[in-house]
Order: sequence, then structure tokens, then C-alpha cells
Amino acid sequence: MPKSSFANDEHAPLKEVGRSKGIRIGSAIRARPARDVAAIVARECDLLTPENALKPAHLSPARGKYRWSDADRTYKFAKSKGLAFHGHTLFWYKRPPPWAEETLGGRSFADATEVYGDFLRDVVERYPRAVSWDVLNEITGTNGLLRDVFPLSTFGVDLVAELLRRARSAAPDAALVINENDLECGASDCAAKRRNVLTLLRQLKERDAPLDVLGVQGHLNSSKPPDTDAVQAFFGEVEALGLDIYLSELDVRDREFDGDDLARDDQVAGLYWTFLTAALQSRAVKRVVFWGITDAENWLATGKGDGHTRARPALFDRSFDRKQAYYAVKEALSSAPER
Ligand code: XIL
Repeated sequence: MPKSSFANDEHAPLKEVGRSKGIRIGSAIRARPARDVAAIVARECDLLTPENALKPAHLSPARGKYRWSDADRTYKFAKSKGLAFHGHTLFWYKRPPPWAEETLGGRSFADATEVYGDFLRDVVERYPRAVSWDVLNEITGTNGLLRDVFPLSTFGVDLVAELLRRARSAAPDAALVINENDLECGASDCAAKRRNVLTLLRQLKERDAPLDVLGVQGHLNSSKPPDTDAVQAFFGEVEALGLDIYLSELDVRDREFDGDDLARDDQVAGLYWTFLTAALQSRAVKRVVFWGITDAENWLATGKGDGHTRARPALFDRSFDRKQAYYAVKEALSSAPER
């Protein structure tokens, strides 16, 4: 990693470096973050997104019933700190609302999209200051175009297009996103997914579906390193379709790295730098968002992800000190072309 003046500048927050390039910096945040985490997010970021509070299963335990309090907290916190608010997510195959399968199953397309559309509208209208929404999260398949799960398997791309339309009519000024995982690596499953995402985006364009952004999660992995050439080629194709790109959930799964903390931090920083330096060459990339900016509250380090007790996936350590990854990110941002 080359060193630059930014690398030594402890005082320029990431958001300032990002702004000088036209890139917004963000983080996911818990509903009740530690005070130090909240302070870091407010200092370093332009934008935040609730990590779990808006997930449909959490938000809507029964049809038409909502648990708003966690998402409301984060929304208010964003406002109090002058941060933009991104909504994650209105649809996720992994955690559908408990009423979804029973209520939507056996219905016609029109009925099913009406029911889910009501949910979507209720959520979007509660948070009118949201600048953007992940309308659909992790829908693309590796073998098939879409994941083989209900209701995607039943209604296909038409469902995707219809939910985008409903999101647009509920939030005409928000950027609408399809957010995807496993697009960065060199392994064959990532390559298949990149192809399927491009096919999906083309099919949505043919249907005139309102989509503004592809979210590329960027959960980088020590055992499946990013293929930077493939990423750059892929971003070029996404840009040619007229879409922006958000790097939406960056962190590093460091399970396979060896050595003491310092040695592993070095490798983690290297992965951030390698991926970001390549990805930011594309001027379509308008955001860099971390999926928890501290090891203290990143999902990979806190037992929910791989449960690795020594995991150090984020930019700040458990004592809230900057790690090498922080400087690597700053370096990659500062050498990115302006957009
Ligand atoms: C994760 C959260 O970080 C965890 O706290 C939760 O237990 C599971 O979900 N891709 C996504 C995110 O789109 O919503 C996931 O968040 C991480 C993978």
C-alpha cells in the first residue's frame, strides 16, 4: 500500500475525503449503539442505515402491525447529527415478515403485490427523509436468475419490477436500490452472480422499472479474495446501463488470516485497499458504506456472523482506536478519481 499525506492525517474524517471525490461515506448502526460508536459514526460518516431495525421480520410481526421504535430511534439519531438516512431493506428472502408466506401464498400476482405493496408503502411513508431505499435485498441467484424462494420463484422479475414501481410512487425522490451479495470474488459463484445480475438489470430496464442503483455489499473474505479485473469490468457494464453503484456493506471476514492481531490487521487493511482502489476507479460508485465501522459492534466480530472471537473486520478496534484498515480506506479514497 502506498502512503500518502492523508494516511498521516488523523484529523480529516473519512466523510471529508469522500466529499472531495463526490463519494458519500456511511455505516450501518444498531438501534442502541454504544456512545463511542455513535460518536464515530457521526464524526466519520455522511449517512447511516439501521443494521436490523427495518428488516421486515423485525418490523412487522403481523400484517398491518409494526414495531417502529428501533427504526424511529435511528431515524431521529440521523436527524440530530445531520446524517442522511438510507433504508435497509423492504424485501429480504432470508427474513420475510412472518405473515408473508401464508398471506401471499395462493394469491394472484395482483393480490400479492397489493398486500406486499401496502407493507412497503407504510414503511416508506414513515421515513420520508430517507434518501434511498434497498427495495430488494439479495434476490439474484447463482444457478437461476433469481433465488429459488417464494415469492420470487412464483412471480419472478415481474414482482421485482412491481415492487420498484410501488417504492417509486411512495418515495418519488428517493434513490431506489437492488442490493446484492457475493459479487466481488474470483470464485465461480460470484462470476455466475455477476452475470445474473446484469441479465436481471437488463430485464428490468426492458420493463421500464424504476431502478437507480445497484448496491454491491462488499463483505470481503479472506478465503475468497476480490477479483479486481472482474469487478471493474462488471462496474463498467452496470454504469453503461445508466445505474449508480453503492458499495453498501463493506467489512472483511478475516477468519483465514494467520498471525497476531497486527499481522492480521495488515492483511485486512490490504483487502480493503485492494478492493476499494479498484472499485473506486468507476465513477458510478457514489457511496462507500461499512457494515459496522467498529470491531466493537460489527456483526462478524460479535458472535452473530462467524462467531470468531478474535475477528477484527472493521476500521476501528474494540477500544475505538483507528486500525490500519482505516488508513487503507482513507488512502484508497484519496487516490480515487473525482466524480
Ligand atoms: C446482518 C446483521 O448485521 C446481523 O446483525 C443479523 O443478525 C443478520 O443480518 N447482508 C445483508 C445484511 O444485507 O442485512 C446482513 O446483516 C448481512 C449480510
